[in-house]
Amino acid sequence: MTALINYSVEENIAVISLQSPPVNGLGQRLRAAIFNAYLQASKDSKVEAIVIASTANVFCAGADISEFGTEQALASPSLPDLCHVIEDSSKPVIAAVNGMALGGGFELTLACDFIIALPQAQFGLPEVKLGILPGAGGTQRLPRIAGAELALQMMISGTPISAEKALAAGIVDCVHAGESDFIDMAIGYAQHLIDADIVLRNCARLKVDTSQLPDNFFSGFRASIARRSRGFMAPEKIIQCVQAACELPFSAGLQLEASLFQECIQSPQARAQQHIFFAERAAKKVPGIKPGTASRDINKVAVIGAGTMGGGIAMNFASAGIATLILDLSEQALERGLNTIKSHYLASVQKGKLTEAQMEQCLSKLAVSTDYNDIQDADLVIEAVFEEMQIKQRVFKKLDEICQAGAILATNTSTLDVNDIAAVTQRPSDVIGLHFFSPANVMRLLEIVRGKHTADDVIVSMISMAQRINKVPVVAGVCWGFIGNRMLEPYAREASRLILEGASPEQIDNVLCQFGMAMGFPSMIDLAGIDVGYLTRQGNKQAFYARDPSYAAICDKLYELGHHGQKTARGFYLYDGRDKRANTQVTQLAAQLAQQYGIKQRQIPDQEILQRTLYMLVNEGAQVLDEGIACRSSDIDTVYCNGYGFPTFRGGPMQYADEIGLDNILSAINRYQIELGEYGRQWFTPAPLLEKLVAEGKSFKTYINNESH
Ligand code: 3HC
Repeated sequence: MTALINYSVEENIAVISLQSPPVNGLGQRLRAAIFNAYLQASKDSKVEAIVIASTANVFCAGADISEFGTEQALASPSLPDLCHVIEDSSKPVIAAVNGMALGGGFELTLACDFIIALPQAQFGLPEVKLGILPGAGGTQRLPRIAGAELALQMMISGTPISAEKALAAGIVDCVHAGESDFIDMAIGYAQHLIDADIVLRNCARLKVDTSQLPDNFFSGFRASIARRSRGFMAPEKIIQCVQAACELPFSAGLQLEASLFQECIQSPQARAQQHIFFAERAAKKVPGIKPGTASRDINKVAVIGAGTMGGGIAMNFASAGIATLILDLSEQALERGLNTIKSHYLASVQKGKLTEAQMEQCLSKLAVSTDYNDIQDADLVIEAVFEEMQIKQRVFKKLDEICQAGAILATNTSTLDVNDIAAVTQRPSDVIGLHFFSPANVMRLLEIVRGKHTADDVIVSMISMAQRINKVPVVAGVCWGFIGNRMLEPYAREASRLILEGASPEQIDNVLCQFGMAMGFPSMIDLAGIDVGYLTRQGNKQAFYARDPSYAAICDKLYELGHHGQKTARGFYLYDGRDKRANTQVTQLAAQLAQQYGIKQRQIPDQEILQRTLYMLVNEGAQVLDEGIACRSSDIDTVYCNGYGFPTFRGGPMQYADEIGLDNILSAINRYQIELGEYGRQWFTPAPLLEKLVAEGKSFKTYINNESH
């Protein structure tokens, strides 16, 4: 077994280098190795200072998340104890940070007396993204070193700061910009400290400088994050810890941190958010594809269609510095598309997210054309034309004629059969689905749809391309709606039906928002477009309407009336720009439709709304898993948390189902099957996989479909 650290003594300086791949996660064994090396150095009379460094690209990614919930996480030495021992050292300890120092990795450096860094180093406390708070003294040390405001911002956003910013904030003592070896520089720095006989830092002796903080600082901060932290538990606990750092002695603050850390880490939210962390990483591994399969080079991208979707897709590539050509039939369409793109970039500049120079750089990567010959040399072509099979097939026939050998031909369909599109080409192995979500330049999810003949290296190329353009990729098999839209269908069906049964759009939105969804179904479809939903349903009409004539009746009625949602200022709500208010006409229409279809209206309990929408979503997820459209339940969760506004603090629909118990989901579905009469018998059929897992006492998490896609 390779050593987790490298220990050496250069004259009077001990160097402890972390070397535990992939990211120097502070699991029990690494903690023990650092602790033992530290003891050795502190006992060695020759050693006068200690440097902690890393041999990997990452300095340290913090606590080993996979250890959470196991005995190892608590096993000695704990991370807080290790930090404590280092802080109490009588010999100077210098952290030499060469890359990312995150979470416990950053907290370890805060316990050192000095931090020196390479320019590419970054410092962050991303615990909040895992549903927890910094638990190794970070909530108490960082405010004392860098002030309460920056500390709070870092802990609440979870976003790392650069070495330069950390230097300006007094976190880092020196940034090494020279050519010389970083470890040599660290040793020289340590030597200089010894010679200068400098006083060592101990946070127990420091106070947070609150002189510049307004009286209402904490209440103001709470109010400023209320919207984005809705439903999350950790942000409030972080604020309480930082407030304690300002008001209490160091030891009392540490005690509070420890107890709130325990509260968080034992919560379902922490389990859910950690599940999503690993889910997003697992999604990049596709069963059956050999690790190490080489990707194809992608240097030039072409997007067919300059509409909203095509423009948004093109922006992703331009923003990543990739030459992108947008092709459309008319100059006017191209001009309109390009103007929209420019206005999006300009909005980012106005919000301070982009500099003007960066905007110009992005725009310089974009070109437009009406001539198919201009895309001959593209390495990846993404079709984003109207969602109709014949139109898409016509485009693919043309692409097959024009594009160079080896080019990847992708369709941005949201529901159509990728195999039928690939079939019109002579190269179905180069054809793949890339389902971007609207707005395509913003939404992080990318569903990669694997056709029957799609080559492995095409899939691998698209997974790595997704990362290049900052998307979260999930591979799905071919079926109507793939993973996301297919599962959305029963969720939407129940929401629409509940309106006929007497629930108001506001009640449905409230229940789903209370649960944590970014928005409920009525608001979501008003935003996406009631016409878009209508057209999508036409692609699978038989399956839906033949079974149930009242299917999506309220949505279809609004469509017929031309009330398409926000874009027509009328849908489930009435709109004035983005401001919305109740649309009483919907209640009247629902009552008429209920009468037409013989549905008795009633008061609907909130719990019924939640169960019928979400349990049907989960039930379809089980079916998607069973059919191998998704290979693991965590892929479904990744889709829902990144593409459909499902709250990450619930970990996605399948994790939520595991958390509340699959037996509870199954018994509720069976109950509705009876209670809802004919309608219940039509739609409330438990998925066989759900029944099987309940019978075996298993969860979704343990199930992998090895014959997927
Ligand atoms: N614990 C366990 N495994 C970790 C890990 C961690 N802290 N950080 C990363 N990994 C694993 C990943 O799961 C992945 O494993 P895999 O190859 O088997 O899928 C592998 O390391 C590489 O990770 P990435 O694919 O994410 O590699 P990148 O190069 O893209 O990113 C990174 C590297 C920026 C370090 C990123 O992994 C990251 O952000 N890690 C999490 C950092 C974090 O949240 N730290 C806080 C931990 S909690 C804590 O410290 C509590 C303390 O306050 C007490």
